[in-house]
Amino acid sequence: MSVTELFGSSEAKAATPAQTLTIRRPDDWHVHLRDGAMLKAVLPFTAAQFKRGIIMPNLVPPVTSVDAASAYRERILAARPDGNDFTPLMTCYLTDSTHPDEIERGFRDGVWAAAKLYPSGATTNSHHGVTSIPKLAPVLERMEKIGMPVLVHGEATDPAVDIFDREAVFMETEMLPLLKRHQGLKVVVEHVTTAETVELVRAHAGRAAATVTPHHLIINRTSIFQGGLRPHLYCLPVAKRERHRLALRKAVTAGDGNFFIGTDTAPHLRSAKQAECCSAGVFGGATALQTYVQVFDEEGALDHFEAFASENGARFYGLPLNEGTITLEKRPCRVSPTVAVGEEDVVIFRGGEELPWSLGEVRG
Ligand code: DOR
Ligand code: ZN
Repeated sequence: MSVTELFGSSEAKAATPAQTLTIRRPDDWHVHLRDGAMLKAVLPFTAAQFKRGIIMPNLVPPVTSVDAASAYRERILAARPDGNDFTPLMTCYLTDSTHPDEIERGFRDGVWAAAKLYPSGATTNSHHGVTSIPKLAPVLERMEKIGMPVLVHGEATDPAVDIFDREAVFMETEMLPLLKRHQGLKVVVEHVTTAETVELVRAHAGRAAATVTPHHLIINRTSIFQGGLRPHLYCLPVAKRERHRLALRKAVTAGDGNFFIGTDTAPHLRSAKQAECCSAGVFGGATALQTYVQVFDEEGALDHFEAFASENGARFYGLPLNEGTITLEKRPCRVSPTVAVGEEDVVIFRGGEELPWSLGEVRG
C-alpha cells in the first residue's frame, strides 16, 4: 500500500512550494503494535514514519521471556509492508518473578533493548505487573550494572487515589525512592503528563529521560468531555489540566535533550472503546509525526524538532543515530478517520481532521 493510500492525500501542489523540513529518520520510543490482524493493520503507519520502535510487551499473555520476545519480533518483521526496513526493539515485561539472569541474557544477546515496569493494575494488561518495586531491586541492580534502561509506567495503583493524581502520587511515593536506590540506572519516565513530572525528569537529567505522546500535547482533560464523553481520547495516564499540556509543549520544544518521541500509540477495536467499560488507549500512530511537527511549528521551535524526533532517544539508549531522512511538508492533509481490522475498525486520533503538515519523502 502506498503512503498516499495509507495516510490520505495532501492538497494538490500549490503554485508556491510548501515549506518543508527534512530531518534524520526518527524513532518511536513507545509503541503498542499488538499482534495478529491488529498488528498487520497498524504496523504500516508506524513503519512508514519511524525507523525503529520500542515495542511494548503488554500482550496477552505478556512478553516475559527471551524466547517469547524473539518470536514476537519475528511476527513484527513478517508483518512489515514489502521493502520496509522498520526495526522493532523488544522489551521485557517485568513481573514479580522476573529473574535477573533472563534479563541479562536477553540484553547481551541483543533481544531486549529495555524492560518495561508496569505497576500491577495500573493500565491495560498490567495485572501480571510488579506489585512491589522495592522487591524488584535485584533485577534493577542487574539492569543498572549492564546499562539496560527501565521504562516506567508512572501511576499509583491504589484505586482510592484520584485518577488525575495517580502520576503525581507515583512520582513521590515510588519514582523518587527508585531513583535514590538505583543512582546509576537509566530510567525512562514514559508518557509524562504533568508539569511536576517534567521538573522531576529535568532534576535527574542524564540518568532519567521522558517520552511525550502526541495526544498529551494536543488534548487536556476537558477535551475528553467536550460536548459529551469522548472514549477515543481516553488513555492512561489520563490527560491532565491545560497548564500541564502547556508545560509539556514547552518541555519538548525547549531543546532539552531529556525528552523524546514516544507515541504510546495504543489501538483498541471500536467495540472495546465504545463500550460499557472503555479500554484505555489512543491510536495516534497514523498522525504522530504530523502532530508533533505541528506543535513545534506552533511553538516557533522547528529548529529543535530533529533533536526531539531523531536524536535524543537514541542518545539516551546508547544506540546509533539513524541514517537517511524524512521530509515533512507544510501542506494540509487529511488522514482517514479509521483503519479496518477484520470486520471492525479502529478510530485514528485526529483522523478525518485537516492537519497542517503532511508526510513527504523518506530516503535511505
Ligand atoms: O492508554 C493506554 N493504553 N495506556 C497504557 O499504558 C497502555 C495502553 C494499551 O496497551 O492500550
Ligand atoms: Zn503504552
